[in-house]
Amino acid sequence: MTNIFMQEALALAAQGVALASPNPMVGAVIVTDGVVVGRGSYRYAGVTHAEILALREAGEQARGGTMYVSLEPHAHTGRTTPCTDAIIAAGIVKIVAASLDPNPLVAGAGFTQLREAGIVVEIASEFQAEAEKLNEAFFHFMRTGRPLVMLKSALTLDGKIAAPEDNTGWITSERARAHVQLLRHASDAIVTGIGTALADDPLLTDRLGTPRTRPLLRVVLDSTLRLPLESKLVKSAQGDLIVVATTAASAERRRALEARGVEVKTLDGPRGRVDIRDVVSMLGERCCLSVMIEAGSKVNWAALESGAVDKVFLYYAPKILGGVQSLPMAGGTGRLRRADAIVLERTQLHVIPPDEFAVEAYVRRDA
Ligand SMILES: NC(=O)c1ccc[n+]([C@@H]2O[C@H](COP(=O)([O-])OP(=O)(O)OC[C@H]3O[C@@H](n4cnc5c(N)ncnc54)[C@H](OP(=O)(O)O)[C@@H]3O)[C@@H](O)[C@H]2O)c1
Repeated sequence: MTNIFMQEALALAAQGVALASPNPMVGAVIVTDGVVVGRGSYRYAGVTHAEILALREAGEQARGGTMYVSLEPHAHTGRTTPCTDAIIAAGIVKIVAASLDPNPLVAGAGFTQLREAGIVVEIASEFQAEAEKLNEAFFHFMRTGRPLVMLKSALTLDGKIAAPEDNTGWITSERARAHVQLLRHASDAIVTGIGTALADDPLLTDRLGTPRTRPLLRVVLDSTLRLPLESKLVKSAQGDLIVVATTAASAERRRALEARGVEVKTLDGPRGRVDIRDVVSMLGERCCLSVMIEAGSKVNWAALESGAVDKVFLYYAPKILGGVQSLPMAGGTGRLRRADAIVLERTQLHVIPPDEFAVEAYVRRDA
């Protein structure tokens, strides 16, 4: 039975995509005498935690019950009072949790308090990987202090992202692009380069059509502020567009962009360009847990080379462009020896019927 109830708790947690950040997604289910008597799913804007919502729904029926929760309940006072206190007061006798909270303010303290109050605490280790994957950006942020950076690209089978002449239309299908919208929806920020902004005039918005707590923050790396004032990005700016330049950018361009509601930041980096690692840190300071890079060849390589990229999501179309002039996914100088290649691990294949697939993989960090 644990399976069914924990699966429901995880499904409730997953309802928090784009709604729980910068906090983790959490779902809770209370079961008394084999019957579900309370359910909760956390939303940042709603403030109240999943455990409390489930307790409220259960009322007196919570007494003697078991709570299945996707993440360890917290024992400290933050925006809310400790969930552990409420769980103890409600007479819950057993907690089954899928993962430990990596937040140093929690990190086992929730379980300790519950055990000290006589509550049985069990870790459903068979669900741990799924629970951590669901909240991977939150876990990453808590462990490293930095957002999880994902590089997404749409490629031909031979690894090209753009053709030298006619670049209209898409490489991948509508189905693959719908999948990308899910990734955008789950991200707090999206980063592109001025090369892409000029070539494609993209909007870079979340068009999934389901609510999100905070707008998707759109970021353009543009050392000298070449972004046209009439671009779709600028025209659609509503406090959600940051253009990052270097000190080489003109004050006049800056003022023109700012007058249209664009925020302009200066972050000098190597070779007279924007410092990508600093961009990621800046987004972390704004409580972005997850950052998606959807850029061209130059920014893709610069981001990989800087060590800022944590994972990739590469969509492959069954096409071959060939030619040395077609842009590769990652340009620049690349690594000059095979032995120095950037290595990925934990590779997962996503099949996109009928003929496409995506590769999700994590950059290996050598100890
Ligand atoms: N298939 C796909 O998934 C996909 C996705 C996106 C784009 N594209 C294609 O990619 C092509 C554009 O590629 P691209 O390489 O020209 O553009 P890009 O990588 O998007 O942008 C490159 C520009 O970004 C600026 N930049 C600022 N900081 C940088 C840094 N630290 N490192 C590198 N660049 C930095 C530089 O211009 P400044 O020196 O002026 O700052 C640079 O020229 C277009 O044809 C587009 O259609 C394809």
